Amino acid sequence: MYAAFRSVGSYVPKNVMTNEDLEKIVETSDEWITKRTGIKTRYIADKDESTSDMGVEAAKVALERAGIEPSQLDMIVCATISPDYFCMPSTACMIAKKLGVANIPAFDISAACSGFIYALAMARSFVESKTAKNVLIIGAEKLSAIVDYTDRTTCVLFGDGAGAAIIGATENENEAIIDVNISSDGNYYDYLITPGCGTNRPCSGETLKEHACFMKMKGNETFKVAVKTLTNDVVEILKNNNIESSQIDHFIPHQANYRILNAVAQALKLKDEQLVITVGKYGNTSSASIPMAMNDLYEEGRLKAGDLMLLDAFGGGFTWGSALVPFAPRKTS
Ligand SMILES: CC(C)(COP(=O)(O)OP(=O)(O)OC[C@H]1O[C@@H](n2cnc3c(N)ncnc32)[C@H](O)[C@@H]1OP(=O)(O)O)[C@@H](O)C(=O)NCCC(=O)NCCS
Repeated sequence: MYAAFRSVGSYVPKNVMTNEDLEKIVETSDEWITKRTGIKTRYIADKDESTSDMGVEAAKVALERAGIEPSQLDMIVCATISPDYFCMPSTACMIAKKLGVANIPAFDISAACSGFIYALAMARSFVESKTAKNVLIIGAEKLSAIVDYTDRTTCVLFGDGAGAAIIGATENENEAIIDVNISSDGNYYDYLITPGCGTNRPCSGETLKEHACFMKMKGNETFKVAVKTLTNDVVEILKNNNIESSQIDHFIPHQANYRILNAVAQALKLKDEQLVITVGKYGNTSSASIPMAMNDLYEEGRLKAGDLMLLDAFGGGFTWGSALVPFAPRKTS
């Protein structure tokens, strides 16, 4: 049995936040943000809109495009660092409830911006081992709830949104996900961190006063490791599978910073048309960024059956991952 990437869907919240809006909140400028990151806008969820609300909307699109009902799902895996609830219940359980599905495994993965590729690795394993036939994977984030809007070094970077995909069983080897590689190095745990309100430093007046429940990042140091790791990771997965970068139809990296994506694409000698970039529009949406970018490609009519996608992600932990995935929709029209 092989695992096929059947469909993709996404959800973008309706409230746009521009660089000019941020200029009114912190000491920054459109020029600085654009030059350093390529980001122009990001979208922000409503106050009463949760991560699972966004995840479920993305999931409905992916389900419809895969031509399956929620009742046909065998498993739901949600990657998120901004879950609806601290500790429990999982956001995947909330999504299952909202889809009207029960009595199947549903769980979250915490792998920061690499979460979607970790979820893909899980889904692929469960399908190939014949434990599941249809797995819904989701990357969903309400990062605006864990971003410190008094910290200009992070608040300009992140946005909200969700992406989803259906991974289904197939006996057709041509449809099979070719390879997924995931890894981590916890020695870098404090480069990207929410230092407070976990069990290490439980929520208290002090942690709240210090804004310790918000994301902190050593941006410059993270940037350097990100470029190196993202490049090495894709070079390795291509080499291991005897695939040349020229054979890739779409390189869809995690959308953190335009300069990082460009550096990796140049190292791989990719043409502009191979590189998918949405960071300018959505900012960094962590685990949601890859499926959101893929969804835009699909909706633009540029992602066709049989196209070979190279996915590449890097994030807090540090975690990273890459995947070689042919797009294998059931419906080819
Ligand atoms: C965050 C990032 C855009 C910052 O760019 P940078 O070129 O590294 O900038 P630095 O952090 O060195 O800061 C340069 C200066 O700009 C200032 N600055 C930081 N944020 C600013 C902002 N929003 N507006 C204006 N100035 C800002 C800094 O205070 C610093 O000023 P100083 O030189 O007077 O001390 C970049 O480091 C980055 O993208 N990092 C990696 C993000 C990433 O990949 N995350 C991992 C995956 S999620």
